[in-house]
Amino acid sequence: MTSYLVTGASRGIGLEFIRQLSEDSKNTVIALVRNAAKSVYLQEITHLPNVHVVEGDVTSIETMKKAAESVTAITGGTLDYIIENAGGDIGTDTSLANPNRDPSTLVEELKGNFELNAVSAVITTNAFLPLLRKGKAKKIILISSAIGDLEFTRITGFVGIPAYGVSKAALNYIAQKYAAELAAEDFVVLALSPGLVDTSSTKEGEQTQPSEEDIKKMQAIFEQWAKSQPDWDRKPLTVQDSVTKQLKVISSVGPKDSGKLLSQNGNTAWL
Ligand SMILES: NC(=O)c1ccc[n+]([C@@H]2O[C@H](COP(=O)([O-])OP(=O)(O)OC[C@H]3O[C@@H](n4cnc5c(N)ncnc54)[C@H](OP(=O)(O)O)[C@@H]3O)[C@@H](O)[C@H]2O)c1
Repeated sequence: MTSYLVTGASRGIGLEFIRQLSEDSKNTVIALVRNAAKSVYLQEITHLPNVHVVEGDVTSIETMKKAAESVTAITGGTLDYIIENAGGDIGTDTSLANPNRDPSTLVEELKGNFELNAVSAVITTNAFLPLLRKGKAKKIILISSAIGDLEFTRITGFVGIPAYGVSKAALNYIAQKYAAELAAEDFVVLALSPGLVDTSSTKEGEQTQPSEEDIKKMQAIFEQWAKSQPDWDRKPLTVQDSVTKQLKVISSVGPKDSGKLLSQNGNTAWL
């Protein structure tokens, strides 16, 4: 059996990782969620014998320690792969330099995103390292974003969601630091960007049609992002396609890739 733990598995990309990984009965797949009772989409697959659910908040040392104990009870104390996917953008997070923004809101957003997307990776990785050290694959995958890539930001000139971007840039650096520290133990640590992914099918209340103004704003943003990849079709990936691509990257990366930020395409084509 090969064991996988995926955090943020209640919905979106994390849920799709659980769905696809559980299709192979030789995999033991563990979904980490904040609240199992409220994870309604996940409940559709928890009857599968190779799917297990543990609870934990990735920003809490205490609950992640308990989650590691629960995983130990499932796997006998080992873990082959961890996919640290829990995260997201906190707040309205629109601009760093706008003088009309309340400075204390901006600071709160910087701190909140940093805690959720960067500090959580250290808490989670350290809680599960004893199990991963006994695992066969020794792969630590930190789900990041091109929004935290310095070169993507330079080329596109993209201003938006800066607090989120800062936190994902920190996450990319955390991947490099773990890669350096764990290289001698044959770990592969990867920051992996999923692409632009439509996860609305597993978000209650987000199936409504966007307004014309929203569509225009999104199109303007897409044109900016396309500066990094002019042949991009300007469409988000389905969650299924993104996860299938990401799983290919996860299985193919080796020591030479450790510490890198790669896209769902296994390179720096982010879209
Ligand atoms: N979708 C995209 O286009 C895109 C692009 C680039 C990067 N990403 C990254 O991909 C990852 C998944 O994104 P997504 O679009 O699937 O997001 P999503 O649908 O908003 O799901 C986020 C998941 O993270 C969980 N989570 C949030 N805070 C948590 C915490 N403190 N402890 C434990 N779990 C927590 C949520 O659980 P609850 O249900 O309890 O809230 C949920 O399962 C994120 O790291 C995101 O930054 C996404």
